[in-house]
Amino acid sequence: MDPFAPLTSGILLLLWLTAPSRACTCVPPHPQTAFCSSDLVIRAKFVGTAEVNQTSLYQRYEIKMTKMFKGFNALGDASDIRFIYTAAMESVCGYFHRSQNRSEEFLIAGQLSNGNLYITTCSFVAPWNSLSSAQRQGFTKTYAAGCEECTVFPCSSIPCKLQSDTHCLWTDQLLTGSDKGFQSRHLACLPREPGMCTWQSLRPRMA
Ligand SMILES: *[C@@H]1O[C@H](CO)[C@@H](O)[C@H](O)[C@H]1NC(C)=O
Ligand SMILES: *[C@@H]1O[C@H](CO)[C@@H](O)[C@H](O)[C@H]1NC(C)=O
Repeated sequence: MDPFAPLTSGILLLLWLTAPSRACTCVPPHPQTAFCSSDLVIRAKFVGTAEVNQTSLYQRYEIKMTKMFKGFNALGDASDIRFIYTAAMESVCGYFHRSQNRSEEFLIAGQLSNGNLYITTCSFVAPWNSLSSAQRQGFTKTYAAGCEECTVFPCSSIPCKLQSDTHCLWTDQLLTGSDKGFQSRHLACLPREPGMCTWQSLRPRMA
């Protein structure tokens, strides 16, 4: 496997080639999209400072994983993740961790390559405490139910048209100019019946 696979996605590559000296810009995804498009989704604490490898120009953060939500199969027997890898420079979308609090837990969604977890500044990394209870439930179990069939489809300018019955139109960007709107914080795009997905409210359910 190519160790740089996480960076070869079209958008990142383009940014790398065209804007080497500017900061990386990202379009934040709906958390369900972040969940579905990531190999690994975990909850972890950042316990060490970043160490830069001068040869690869990657840096790694030591973490302590407290929960895994996605990636059991991909990870196989190496069931513990001790480091997170990211480019050492922000200009090539490297992630910089700003919190000094080693007991604060973060939701981290990233890509797996050769058994290592890679993230970029565009990855979904958020303090667990900042997530709504619906989002926590989504990451813990509900988003997975929409990954196979359903697509959160961003609507960034009017008019937006639903192109498929399995799409849910995501209008948070348009209405609130951010990814922190109602659909992000409270809804998931889930199968309603075969071949059809709709926004559904995530309420804590009694087990
Ligand atoms: C630094 O990166 C190089 C090239 O990827 C690798 O061979 C080497 O083992 C790394 N060094 C450390 C200390 O991880
Ligand atoms: C660090 O994070 C923990 C857990 O989120 C919190 O209880 C504590 O107040 C934080 N400490 C500081 C200094 O912010």
